[in-house]
Amino acid sequence: MTFSDSETTAIRSRFKVFDTKTYLNSCSQGALSDAVESGLNEYIESWRKYGSPWETWTEKYEEARKVFADFISADDDEVAVVASASAGINSIASALEFSSRPKVIMGEFEFPTMGQIWLAQQRRGARVEFLSGIDNQISAETYAKAIDEDTLIVPLTQVSFVNGNRSDVVAIAQAAHAHGALVMLDSYQDCGTRPIDVHRLGVDFMVSGTLKYLLGPPGLAFLYVRHDLISKLDPPITGWFAQTDPFAFNPKLHSPSPAAKRFEAGTPPIPNIYAALAGIRLLAEAEPARIEAHVARLAGQLIAGAHELGIQTKTAADGKGPLVVLKAKDAASLVSVLAEENIVVSSRHDGLRVSFHLYNSYEDVDRVLAAFKDHLEYFQSATGSAA
Ligand SMILES: Cc1ncc(COP(=O)(O)O)c(C=O)c1O
Repeated sequence: MTFSDSETTAIRSRFKVFDTKTYLNSCSQGALSDAVESGLNEYIESWRKYGSPWETWTEKYEEARKVFADFISADDDEVAVVASASAGINSIASALEFSSRPKVIMGEFEFPTMGQIWLAQQRRGARVEFLSGIDNQISAETYAKAIDEDTLIVPLTQVSFVNGNRSDVVAIAQAAHAHGALVMLDSYQDCGTRPIDVHRLGVDFMVSGTLKYLLGPPGLAFLYVRHDLISKLDPPITGWFAQTDPFAFNPKLHSPSPAAKRFEAGTPPIPNIYAALAGIRLLAEAEPARIEAHVARLAGQLIAGAHELGIQTKTAADGKGPLVVLKAKDAASLVSVLAEENIVVSSRHDGLRVSFHLYNSYEDVDRVLAAFKDHLEYFQSATGSAA
C-alpha cells in the first residue's frame, strides 16, 4: 500500500528542495514540485501571450472548484474558491445568527485564526467557550459534555498545528448534531495526506488552504458547505464573484449564487489557481490512500526513535502524522541549529514540528533523529531535565 523506495525516489526527484535540504516542514509550506512550477509558468505564459484571457482564466477557476470537490468527494456546487481559510470561515461566521443559539464551542488547540474570527463575533452575540486539553488532546467525550442546545457551532481542527494530534471528527460531529449544532472542520493540517470523503465525515463546513499538504502556493483556499445549508445562509460579506451571474455587471442587483459560490467575494486569485491545480492533481495521481500509509510509517518511525532518545512528544505515541511535535526546551533555537545542517523544520512555542508528506523518505527520519542525538541538550527528558 505504501510507496516502494524507488517510487519515493521518483516522487522526490520532482521536488528540487531535496537536492540540498532534508525538508520536513510541509506543516508550514509544501515543497515546490515541477508540476506546480509549470502551472505557475503556464499562467505567466497565458498572460504574456494573450494579455487578458479572462475566459480561460475563469475556466481554470471553475476547474479548481471541480478538482478540489472531487478530491474531498463533495459535489462541485458545495465548494467555494476563496483567498484564505480565514476568508471562508468569516463568510460563514458573518452569515450565522447567534440570538437563539449563542455558543461557539472550540478546543484550545485550534489555529489562532479560528479563535480570533469567532471571538470577533462576540459583538454580534456569540459566546465563545474554549475546551482545555489533557496531554495535548481533547476527547470526543469532552466535546460531547460541553455541547448543548445553546451551541450553534463547533469549529474543529482535524490535526492540530501545535501538537499534531488528530480530532475524533466523526464522533464529535455526531455529538454536535445530536444537539442541533453545526461543525466546521479545519482540515488545513491534514488535507492532501489521505483520502477524504467529506460527506462521510459528517461535517457541515470544511476549510483548507493550498499552501501546505496540497502542495500549492499561498493565497488560495477552499470552503465546503453542506448542500442543504447553502441556501439557508446569506453572508453579508460578499462581492461580485458571489453572485448568480457575476458578469451581469449590475450594482443595483444583489443575487447570491444558489451554490457555495455565494461564500466568495472578489476576483479569484488566478495565478494561485493555476499552481494549486497542478499540486492537487499530483496528489490525486499518487493516490491519497498510499500517501496516508507512507506518512503513517514515517511518523511512527520518528515517534519511536524520539522516545528511544528520551525525547518527549506532544503528539500521541500512536500518531499517524503528517505532523509530529516534540517537546523542546528551546524549540526556536533548535530550528536554527538544524537549519545550519540543512534540515528544515519549524517550531511553535515549546514544540518542534516535524512533518511528513509523500516526498519524505525513511532516510529523512534517520537523518533528523541523528541530528536530535547530536543536540539532545535542546530537549526535555521525561523527568523534566535535559535528555
Ligand atoms: C490549521 C490551520 N488553519 C488555518 C491556517 C491559516 O489559514 P489562512 O488561510 O486563513 O491563513 C493554518 C496555517 O498555518 C493552519 O495551520
